Amino acid sequence: MASEHRTSIHGQWSGRMAFILAATGSAVGLGNIWKFPYITGENGGGAFVLVYLLCIAVIGVPIMMAEVMLGRRGRQSPINTMASLAADEGRPAAWSALGWMGMVAGFLILSYYSVIAGWALSYVFRAGSGMFEGATADGVNSIFTSLVSDPERLLAWHTIFMVATMIVVARGVQNGLEKAVRFLMPMLFFILVVLVLYAMTTGYFSVGLNFLFSPDFSKITQGSVLVAMGHAFFTMSLGMGAIMVYGSYLPKDTSIAKTSMIIAGADTLVALMAGMAIFPIVFANGLEPGAGPGLIFKTLPIAFGQMDAGILIGTLFFILLVFAAWTSSISLIEPVVAWLVENRSMNRLYASVWVGIATWLMGIGTVLSFNVWSGHKLFGMTFFDLLDYLTANIMLPLGGLLIAVFAGWLMHENSSKDELHTTPRGYNLWQMLVRVVAPVAVMIVFLNAIGVFK
Ligand code: PFF
Repeated sequence: MASEHRTSIHGQWSGRMAFILAATGSAVGLGNIWKFPYITGENGGGAFVLVYLLCIAVIGVPIMMAEVMLGRRGRQSPINTMASLAADEGRPAAWSALGWMGMVAGFLILSYYSVIAGWALSYVFRAGSGMFEGATADGVNSIFTSLVSDPERLLAWHTIFMVATMIVVARGVQNGLEKAVRFLMPMLFFILVVLVLYAMTTGYFSVGLNFLFSPDFSKITQGSVLVAMGHAFFTMSLGMGAIMVYGSYLPKDTSIAKTSMIIAGADTLVALMAGMAIFPIVFANGLEPGAGPGLIFKTLPIAFGQMDAGILIGTLFFILLVFAAWTSSISLIEPVVAWLVENRSMNRLYASVWVGIATWLMGIGTVLSFNVWSGHKLFGMTFFDLLDYLTANIMLPLGGLLIAVFAGWLMHENSSKDELHTTPRGYNLWQMLVRVVAPVAVMIVFLNAIGVFK
């Protein structure tokens, strides 16, 4: 079969480690450090965290394996990969629609992701100039508010971040993507350790841990179960083809099961550490855990303002956060760029520029959501909230569901066994998760959220 001999026209990772770094770079991002703490705060803590962890284990890991597997077998952009695999397996060509939906989701996510990354970028300079020295909770709050209420400043930072993303994407798989992640991930991890150590000195560490880890199921609603599941997809970069396209650059002999578990483990660890750093500071300063998207920007600066070497550590932290966002944003756009190169015979540079401009324009909607348009709401949500809801809670889980169905039911066992080459027990477990557990769980959460079980 042709798929045995497929190679990617875009190149290949230099090895297993390169793939792990790149996929972890994609997974670890604003989702772990910015989004996980604030949605945990909004959804009441422990019970939400437990549902999220469960989703990672029984839905996230098997679907990640499926997505990497499809990518490596198809070796093209998600649209063309799905078209080729559907042809290989004798399935309808309409499966390429999965790739299309993913491409649209990536575009929509990046449009707001870049704006938030812009906040982090602007905080590098705020931390570096000593603006947080001795700051109180109120002081830090007003620094944040004055930033987000100024559309021009937000637009400027959003622009800088988009340009930076497009530069790396334009340089291609090995030159751009791989080099960007090699040193940054370990450094980010190290600085999070420093922040958790600081959180231990606040006197509220156990309160923070309690909030994160002792589940109170009365605080959880149907909506928050959907948010927890959606976040499992978002944080692992699943359901939209980012991991599929990275899988398409994966050497044939690498174990998909092991690498997926390593990536899921690293991603989860970073999120939990961010939570352990942030919530003690929230409680020690009498702040509101449900403060929303500004949470880390209103809490961590207090810590930087109080600790020794806070200017250095604060600056470094925001630099690393920007890098974490950067390595994720690259993967959000890679499926579209790969497709333009394949189907429109564009070179990477042109493809990157065009996609960058379109995403930048879309991002203006998010810039305005925090100021000029903050009063305009649809279903009670701002433009930014709507984009986030539509992508993380609907498009990614739906994409994941379809990936699971294709990999578990429609692909012949010979193909998936050949690609996964795990032990027979491992294969059976994966098959059960991807055929039954993950799709059923996603369906139940969807139905539950629209109130079917009420
Ligand atoms: N996983 C990234 C994060 O947690 O910040 C966000 C993301 C990247 C989502 C790539 C989806 C994606 F395809």
